[in-house]
Amino acid sequence: MIVENNACRAPRVYLETYGCQMNIADSQMVTAILQQAGYATTSDANEADIILLNTCAIREHAEDRVLGRLSDLARLKDARPRRKLGLLGCMAQHNRASLLKKAPWLDVVAGPDSYRRLPELLAGVAGDPTVDVRLDRAETYSDISPAYDSGVRAYVTVMRGCDKFCAFCVVPYVRGRERSVPLPAILREVERLAERGTKEIVLLGQTVNAYRYNQVGFGQLLRMVAAVDGITRIRFTSPHPSDMTADVIEAMAQEPKVQPYLHLPVQSGSDRILAAMGRGYTTEAYLRLVERLRSAIPNLALSTDIIVGFHGEEESDFAATLDLMRRVGYDSAFMFKYSVREHTRAFKLGDTVSNEEKSRRLAEVIALQESLSLERNRALIGREFPVLVEGPARRGGGMMVGKTPQFKTALFPASPSINIGDTVNVRIASATAHSLLSTVP
Ligand code: SAH
Ligand code: SF4
Ligand code: F3S
Repeated sequence: MIVENNACRAPRVYLETYGCQMNIADSQMVTAILQQAGYATTSDANEADIILLNTCAIREHAEDRVLGRLSDLARLKDARPRRKLGLLGCMAQHNRASLLKKAPWLDVVAGPDSYRRLPELLAGVAGDPTVDVRLDRAETYSDISPAYDSGVRAYVTVMRGCDKFCAFCVVPYVRGRERSVPLPAILREVERLAERGTKEIVLLGQTVNAYRYNQVGFGQLLRMVAAVDGITRIRFTSPHPSDMTADVIEAMAQEPKVQPYLHLPVQSGSDRILAAMGRGYTTEAYLRLVERLRSAIPNLALSTDIIVGFHGEEESDFAATLDLMRRVGYDSAFMFKYSVREHTRAFKLGDTVSNEEKSRRLAEVIALQESLSLERNRALIGREFPVLVEGPARRGGGMMVGKTPQFKTALFPASPSINIGDTVNVRIASATAHSLLSTVP
């Protein structure tokens, strides 16, 4: 018999993250909470005492992936029964009722507002599952400094939750009401990041430009973050078109550190569908906003999110989406088949577009976006851009990779004088829809 003689070492936690940047940031915070409580971390699930998945509920596919992964991990638990398995995040919140039926081997289920209590939850008796999915209108974790990774870019959560209740979206139900992180806590984190050499800050929130703390709105927040020495670039995601106020546009236009790139989710190009989604803007208002942004911010790059096959989407609505994509000329887009989500306003409406038809529409928007991206990128050939160096390119070949101000991926030849975190000027030599091959002049 093998006796595990681990009594004196810190229990090791393995944490896997799904979903959006906000979940990545939450995982860094969860890591900090657990380290504070005496846990060690590991990047190998096989050697972990505790395995945690921080999950996403945005589409059914996201949940299916996690359920598949959970049954793999259940085998690791069989191999060492005292090992604990926990499910965190949006899916924990969304499926709280059914999760323990689908995955009875789970020891801990914790929603996005329960991370502070994780050490207690994990201390529970093995085999006796603990579930904590209370949403807390006041929780911003503002006193917890996340365990950031060592990259040139860091994500800083500035607000949590969402009050928009778009008809298709589960976020307000799984993340709760909108609340902003107090300004002093944000500035403290940004200063701390600057001290450890982070160059680029990405401010995060589901409707990040709805930020408000006392009298400070998002435009002013951008300016205050820009005033922190050592930080050279500032980005943010995701702004909601309805909260894109003049002060935010002005801050983007006037503050050189705020980069000329905006992810501005439109979802659909049909006014009928936008109204059914409850997005709070028309295509005309959206296009006017794009014009204002482009005239205030030269060389602005725009990306978006598109949903195809929402309840009631007819061929003519879909054609209007293609038309809007062409009119805006997005630099890139994330495109999704509509997925009916329990708890949302559109849930009871169900699906009117078949899966085959959604697939056809998705393939069409993807093909259009590929050609738009290629066209926009090719127009950059011959121009020069400052690139923040992130590291060696994944495809190797003596190339390095970084982002242009417009958040485009640029590849360029490595040289001994170029280091991670430097900003180098590159000249675009050729372009695909997804990257820019460059030289260092
Ligand atoms: N807060 C952001 C979006 C967050 S979710 C915003 O409002 O812009 C990211 C994207 O997932 C959304 O923009 C939307 O395009 C997509 N999405 C959300 N719910 C979805 C659903 N039920 N089916 C398919 N895509 C969905
Ligand atoms: Fe979801 Fe709409 Fe909130 Fe975005 S703004 S998170 S799409 S409810
Ligand atoms: Fe998914 Fe939750 Fe983000 S549902 S998209 S991980 S806020």
